[in-house]
Amino acid sequence: AKFTIIDIDTCIACGACGASAPEIFDYDDDGIAFSLIDKNTGTIEVPDDLIDDLIDAYEGCPTDSVRVADEPFDGAADKFA
Ligand code: F3S
Repeated sequence: AKFTIIDIDTCIACGACGASAPEIFDYDDDGIAFSLIDKNTGTIEVPDDLIDDLIDAYEGCPTDSVRVADEPFDGAADKFA
């Protein structure tokens, strides 16, 4: 299982993650990304068919703000940092 969350404190609104994974990530009015899956809490498993997109987004974020882990984040983007 994979879980994801955006660190909104380090996201610079570059827009890459939503381009790579439009079914996972969207942006707020300031262009800061968040996960659509679970309101950016990192508590719901990313569906298997979206894992490839997720990895693309993870690898493409210039500020390492797309966090991915095997366990839930419980709302804390730096839980496993
Ligand atoms: Fe922000 Fe990184 Fe996405 S900077 S908009 S989380 S690619």
